[in-house]
Amino acid sequence: MSESLIHPRYPPEINARIARLEALTRLETTVVNLPGADVRLAVIHPASIDDLLDTVAHDPEFNLPYWAEIWPSGIALADAILKDPALVRGKPVLELGCGLGITAAAATMVGAHLVATDYSPYSLLLTELTCLLAHQPPPQVRQINWRAADADLLQRSGERWPVVLAADVIYEARDIEPVLAVLGRIVAPNGLVWLAEPGREHASTALNLARARGWQIESTTHTGPWPGGPDGVVHLHKMIKAPAGD
Ligand SMILES: C[S@@+](CC[C@H](N)C(=O)[O-])C[C@H]1O[C@@H](n2cnc3c(N)ncnc32)[C@H](O)[C@@H]1O
Repeated sequence: MSESLIHPRYPPEINARIARLEALTRLETTVVNLPGADVRLAVIHPASIDDLLDTVAHDPEFNLPYWAEIWPSGIALADAILKDPALVRGKPVLELGCGLGITAAAATMVGAHLVATDYSPYSLLLTELTCLLAHQPPPQVRQINWRAADADLLQRSGERWPVVLAADVIYEARDIEPVLAVLGRIVAPNGLVWLAEPGREHASTALNLARARGWQIESTTHTGPWPGGPDGVVHLHKMIKAPAGD
């Protein structure tokens, strides 16, 4: 039996979320450094995604529990947000595929009005937890499936989003068109999509299609280091939507 991460020094809203997650799986804590911004985040996460495979065995979408891992793209986007906070501060911001909430924590730290979304309800719980551990109020969260996305669910009171964040969300061919279609519908004219990805072929295909559809894209790279992983490069793409069209 592993030791519980519930702790008397945590407030009840943190311990309640840890208890719900510990009912699912073993947890551990990793301290994530955001090097450019000199910030450290304590991130509580499942100890192993292998332990979670049974929980997704009956998922009709066959989604693996990638929400349970720390990914370089989420860290790189968080770091970039802290270095350039004006892009999100005070703005309505939507995040697609929030995972453990590392990017969400950075966005809330600099004052974004964030709605964080993911397919997994556990991801949403972990995102709230990561924000609370970073001494931020948890963002609004919404469970979505971008392959079957209801446009109303992703709009904000009938308005489109000026900023959308997306870290490592295009890693399967089946997601290229659905994600582009969702962005086409929910991003405001001249709005920003800030996409991070670790050089994935399907992300590159999606970026080429977006360019052909009128999006302007400016790309930079981020070299880590990342906790526990190889020092791969993350590409950060600022995608600006055309004034009209998708
Ligand atoms: C590779 S993880 C990246 C997580 C996080 N953005 C990060 O960089 O750490 C991909 C995320 O997308 C979510 N996801 C995958 N397919 C999805 C779908 N169809 N609709 C919504 N979220 C989805 C997963 O649950 C997971 O949290």
